[in-house]
Amino acid sequence: MKISLILFCLGLVLTDAAVIKQNKRFPDDFFFGTGTSAYQIEGGWDADDKGDSIWDYMTHNMPEVITDHSNGDIAADSFNNYKRDVEMMRELGLDMYRFSLSWPRILPTGVPNYVSEAGITYYNNLIDEMLKYNIQPMITLYHWDLPQKLQEMGGFMNPLIADWFEDFARIAYERFGDRVKYWITFNEGYQICYEGYDYVSKAPRLNATGVGEYLCARNLLLAHARAYHAYNNDFRPTQGGICGYTISISSAQPLNDTEEDRLALELHTQAEWAIYTDPIFSKEGGFPKELSELVAEKSANQGFPRSRLPAFSEEEKEFIKGTSDFFGVNHYGGGYVSFSLYDLENSVVPSTQDDIQVGSYAPEDWPQAASFWLKRMPRSLYIVLKRIHERYDGNVPIIVTENGWSTHAGIEDEDRVAYYRAALEGALDAMDEGVNLLGYFAWSLLDNFEWMAGYSERFGLYEVDFEDPARTRTPRKSAFIYKQIIKTRVVDHGYEPHSYVMTIDEGH
Ligand SMILES: *[C@@H]1O[C@H](CO)[C@@H](O)[C@H](O)[C@H]1NC(C)=O
Ligand SMILES: *[C@@H]1O[C@H](CO)[C@@H](O)[C@H](O)[C@H]1NC(C)=O
Repeated sequence: MKISLILFCLGLVLTDAAVIKQNKRFPDDFFFGTGTSAYQIEGGWDADDKGDSIWDYMTHNMPEVITDHSNGDIAADSFNNYKRDVEMMRELGLDMYRFSLSWPRILPTGVPNYVSEAGITYYNNLIDEMLKYNIQPMITLYHWDLPQKLQEMGGFMNPLIADWFEDFARIAYERFGDRVKYWITFNEGYQICYEGYDYVSKAPRLNATGVGEYLCARNLLLAHARAYHAYNNDFRPTQGGICGYTISISSAQPLNDTEEDRLALELHTQAEWAIYTDPIFSKEGGFPKELSELVAEKSANQGFPRSRLPAFSEEEKEFIKGTSDFFGVNHYGGGYVSFSLYDLENSVVPSTQDDIQVGSYAPEDWPQAASFWLKRMPRSLYIVLKRIHERYDGNVPIIVTENGWSTHAGIEDEDRVAYYRAALEGALDAMDEGVNLLGYFAWSLLDNFEWMAGYSERFGLYEVDFEDPARTRTPRKSAFIYKQIIKTRVVDHGYEPHSYVMTIDEGH
């Protein structure tokens, strides 16, 4: 009896050692969260005196551009269900929750001569409900839903966006900064500027190829720096929080180990994200050198009187440099890059693709998400974290502000579980090699309006029933797995939830 019990215990220990692949833990002060954004979850699109955003405008006037012709009018109805959302955060045992403010819910016309008290009250209620349970709010000021009125005045093509954005940011700091200590100015410059202004895969679908993105990037960086300095000078001394900036990075690798493909990777890096981060995090400041030279040269050859990527003045460079307290990174998929993979024949001239002429590819046998653009590359989060660490001052504090996987509807989400386990193991490996990673946010707390894909792709740890007027939320398998990782601080491949009954642990 005794011997068999000992053997049994030994067996358990051995199993544990086998399934926790590495003897690595997340430190106790590492924070775990989940993320969402206003337009994707809130609904309440015309509640009280809220103004229209560019997503309200686009989905109402051009429903055909959304896969299932849907919109975010109701979405997950977090406008009415925010208490249930906080209950889910408690179930998961989250330290933090990242959400965004709807600019037109707070400033219906975009400018601050009139502030919607109803809009302020909604966010106050959400923040206070979270703090009741010791869940720290992280606010993204801009997650893609610009007031339509400001779009009609040019949106990010108008340099006045820097004034408009600083004004909005100041209202947010004034009204919420007594309780909110984590701020992000912009979410994903490339998706705002390239997809919205250069191309047609995000509102406002400007399609100003080769021109829109670069002008937007310049204006966005100046707007970001204005909002950062406003916080740093006028709010941080009394509020004591931190303010940063988030971009999306794919785990690109050179196709072949050649000098040419390494140059292709560098240009791909500059065009995809360093154009948005070198001005802030590099020692020299300003836009990346090779990309700037390439675009200037092509612009001249194409008959433009000046570069399509207008450089910053020395004064602007200094103004932008260093304006982020941490490096916020969103990461999903990756692939191999090479000049040889570029489709020259179908190159649109001018365009940002044509400027660098780098193509990419992801092998067939990598797991494919419900989103066409998302494949699971081995060790991809590790690759991304190391790349940031190597590109900038090695000690830059990094926060993974989004990371996740899409499926179709359904509770059994083994692919998502595998994705999160691999990503978090990559995070542990990177930390082991000196990457200063402070925290991690899974995307997303719950299913939501996935932009151009509508409700056809699901990113939630909790499934939302969009047919049900109550928008009932049900935890997926991945919710139990994430909860266990947060609780134990280790990635245990052998852990299986006993049942799918979710409860709130003591202390949450
Ligand atoms: C975007 O512009 C390109 C030319 O620059 C054109 O070929 C394409 O049809 C346009 N797309 C849309 C959706 O208007
Ligand atoms: C580059 O890599 C691809 C895929 O691994 C391979 O098919 C190709 O032959 C390589 N090209 C060169 C020039 O090495």
